[in-house]
Amino acid sequence: ARTPVTVTVTGGAGQIAYGLLFRIAAGDMLGPDTPVRLRLLEIPAAVQALEGVAMELEDCAFPLLESVDISDDPWDGFSGANVAVLVGARPRTARMERADLLAANGPIFTDQGAAISASAADDVRVLVVGNPANTNAFIAMSNAPEVPAERFTALTRLDHNRAIAQLARRTGAAAADIARITVWGNHSATQYPDLGHATVAGRPAAGAVGDPAWVRDEFIPTVQRRGTAIIEARGASSAASAAAAAIDHIRDWTLGTAPGDWVSMAVPSDGSYGVPEGLISSFPVTCAAGEYTIVPGLEIDEFSRERIDASVAELESEREAVIGLGFAKHP
Ligand code: NAI
Repeated sequence: ARTPVTVTVTGGAGQIAYGLLFRIAAGDMLGPDTPVRLRLLEIPAAVQALEGVAMELEDCAFPLLESVDISDDPWDGFSGANVAVLVGARPRTARMERADLLAANGPIFTDQGAAISASAADDVRVLVVGNPANTNAFIAMSNAPEVPAERFTALTRLDHNRAIAQLARRTGAAAADIARITVWGNHSATQYPDLGHATVAGRPAAGAVGDPAWVRDEFIPTVQRRGTAIIEARGASSAASAAAAAIDHIRDWTLGTAPGDWVSMAVPSDGSYGVPEGLISSFPVTCAAGEYTIVPGLEIDEFSRERIDASVAELESEREAVIGLGFAKHP
């Protein structure tokens, strides 16, 4: 058997974690040969519920699951973490403005970034799921001087997977036949799901769709508003699909992407595609040997440029807001 991997998950008693933890323990995230040690972090009020989740994990008798530890202290919860999935966050409540949401989440991700920096394993890889995910990841990164900045990422894989699903439904193709979808920008309504480089069974998606108006008027808004549509239908926000996307994100980052394909991850920009350096924005990436690379040299037409710029402008305004609140400094 291989060396065990320590995975810390925050928000362990929440609904995404309930879809996530059992799949991690079953080996879906790190592969069928890798034993897992789970460390679950919650706020004090949710520790009792978290104990129940830990009991259920125990009751599955997963062969790969070596241990489950629970904590309400980030300084303890990230100790030795090789993978950290930051799901717990302060949710947006009625009449809360975006600025209030940033202010409520700033202290959480300031502390967690510092705790990761001080106590996680040297190879720690961080995925932020809790919203506003990109900017929360930016705050954690800014407060983790001991961790290379590129190890901080945020989840846009759910948006990516939703885009695959919409294109598959429209063309009648299987999800497995679709490649090279890209989600650019922020995990928010301004995100830009881009079919410009996508293929369906090896053919350009535009030809397979045959209707540019569908892309503009149906595909893009449907993907952008899918989270809201799920809330309206289910009465609760996406949970199992978000958990599946988090599994996909870490699995592909650590084990690699399929040849000829790429995935979307929000990662600190290196200046590619005109995105200001250091901003955590979604890009097309390939992964190999535990490292991701932003896909270089894609042609960006005027339609795409406008949409990428709009989402990046939103990310820049979020960055300015959290710098103004003292959660990060100017680069
Ligand atoms: P939930 O409310 O069911 O669970 C969140 C859990 O986090 C709660 O148990 C809460 O006690 C815990 N928590 C809050 N602050 C914490 C802290 N400082 N440390 C540790 N735990 C803490 O919410 P759910 O449905 O699991 O969603 C979690 C987050 O994921 C939300 O912010 C949601 O908006 C976001 N999300 C992101 C998606 C993405 O694609 N990036 C998709 C869907 C949801």
